[in-house]
Amino acid sequence: MPHQFPVPAPRSSTLLWWQRGVLYHIYPRSFQDSNGDGVGDVQGIITRLDYLSWLGVDVLWLSPIFPSPMIDGGYDLADYCTVDPLFGDLATFVQLLEQAHRRGLKVLLDFVPNHTSDVHPWFMEARAGRTSCKREWYIWHDPAPDGGPPNNWESYFGGPAWTFDQHTGQYYLHQFDDRMPELNWRNPEVRTAMYGVMRFWLDLGVDGLRVDVPWLLIKDEQFRDNPINPDWKAGDLPWTRQIRLYSEDRPEVHEVVREMQAVIDSYAERVLIGETYLPLPRLLRYYGERLQGMHFPFNFHLILLSEWNAQAIRQAVEAYEAALPVGAWPNWVLGNHDQPRLVSRLGWQAARVATMLLLTLRGTPTWYYGDELGMQDVPIPDHLAQDPQGKRQPGFGRDPARTPMQWDDGPNAGFCLPNVEPWLPLAADSQKMNAAAEQEDARSHLSLTRALLSLRRRTPALTSGSYHTLESGSECCFVYLREQGEQHLMVALNCSVQEQVVKVPEVGQGRLLLSTYLDREGPVNLAALALRSQEGCIIEIEEFHML
Ligand code: GLC
Repeated sequence: MPHQFPVPAPRSSTLLWWQRGVLYHIYPRSFQDSNGDGVGDVQGIITRLDYLSWLGVDVLWLSPIFPSPMIDGGYDLADYCTVDPLFGDLATFVQLLEQAHRRGLKVLLDFVPNHTSDVHPWFMEARAGRTSCKREWYIWHDPAPDGGPPNNWESYFGGPAWTFDQHTGQYYLHQFDDRMPELNWRNPEVRTAMYGVMRFWLDLGVDGLRVDVPWLLIKDEQFRDNPINPDWKAGDLPWTRQIRLYSEDRPEVHEVVREMQAVIDSYAERVLIGETYLPLPRLLRYYGERLQGMHFPFNFHLILLSEWNAQAIRQAVEAYEAALPVGAWPNWVLGNHDQPRLVSRLGWQAARVATMLLLTLRGTPTWYYGDELGMQDVPIPDHLAQDPQGKRQPGFGRDPARTPMQWDDGPNAGFCLPNVEPWLPLAADSQKMNAAAEQEDARSHLSLTRALLSLRRRTPALTSGSYHTLESGSECCFVYLREQGEQHLMVALNCSVQEQVVKVPEVGQGRLLLSTYLDREGPVNLAALALRSQEGCIIEIEEFHML
């Protein structure tokens, strides 16, 4: 009957901080400017730690703050082991760590091992000549017989993934911007240097790392052409034109992942997270054989759903739960700096239901800054565009989801001084949609997110309980149980715009704890529970009958 894929509940005391906690992803350029240049910085984040504690998140993950020419928002590093003056300095970062830790918050940094900036001293040295001691740190190849690129690989940002270096007469590989040459992870010297970078930050007290594009690290040794995707049509994501069979996710990458995890494991209680945009079976391989891979490969399958409805969501959740290797810890993500904003993808009410989903599923949730306010994509005029992906491939720019945090109704929304121009324009609705206003509004997006975070934190069934899908008699609702010991919670999500009735009489008596409308609580009839348009409810089962 009703439940599938029962997943046993660990005792909550056995969970580690990164399993119990909620991750909050900060895009530092857009969080808080403290020095009047219109760009967010580390000191700015320090001044907002009280907000983050108040909100109730546990772990902060910062997109890159390292020296960079900022071709790709800092993912093009010119130095791995310090802080770009744009963001502050190392001493300020250490203060951030201390102050966050004092509040019980953990701090994760981005680790970008696949490529450097072309102005990184390693690459400058590598391109100095074919016999340079750093030459083999990058990926060089002779031209094809016709003088063109060595193979057909394409860059994610558009155009060939190879650029010819006049001076040395060879092509170098870059799967992003041509100013982001790719490191050669088949070279042991590169590995040693990069594991040294990891240790640098871990020694400083950073609680873990989020690895950028780990599945790209190893390329085919023979550099074979990628097959063309026969299903690709105009309008599809440009980078899906090829099946990237040979340029990424090669089997040997798992050895690298294991080595990275070993570095992490040589420190107490640190975490390794990986960005993994991959189909389920390939994604799960990043947990590694006998779980010797990374702690959690990001699960983007809720973001990637082509339709947002109860059946599609249910399928994604069940497929993931069923396929997860024994002992592997699940995680869920709803947004990040590379994707359109949650509210812009789903609409207002559905975003609230999605928030409830994220914060009640089994596993660690990752939250993107500003989504708690319902921030939306902000249209960016061409002359202000910053993102290289959007500049090369109009319509696929990521700037709209990276705009400044909306703190209050003042000029520049409290993100930077009134007389300063922020690095990206602010949302037109920031006078209304901002943290200060929403703190005063008991039914705002912010109030809902905070209420959910608080409920999750104090409810063992939500942080560590088991997961079961329930049949509710409504195709349009996704209903599941989270259970821990004597605690039984039912989550009922109406993913449609019509009212729906959920029927689970066999479950017992229920008491509604939280509705996404934030306007009702108390006893409910589980034989016929009416859910309004796009309403989600968390219900405590008082006299549990089933199972
Ligand atoms: C990752 C980052 C993205 C960046 C790319 C290249 O996907 O999330 O922002 O452009 O890697 O580093």
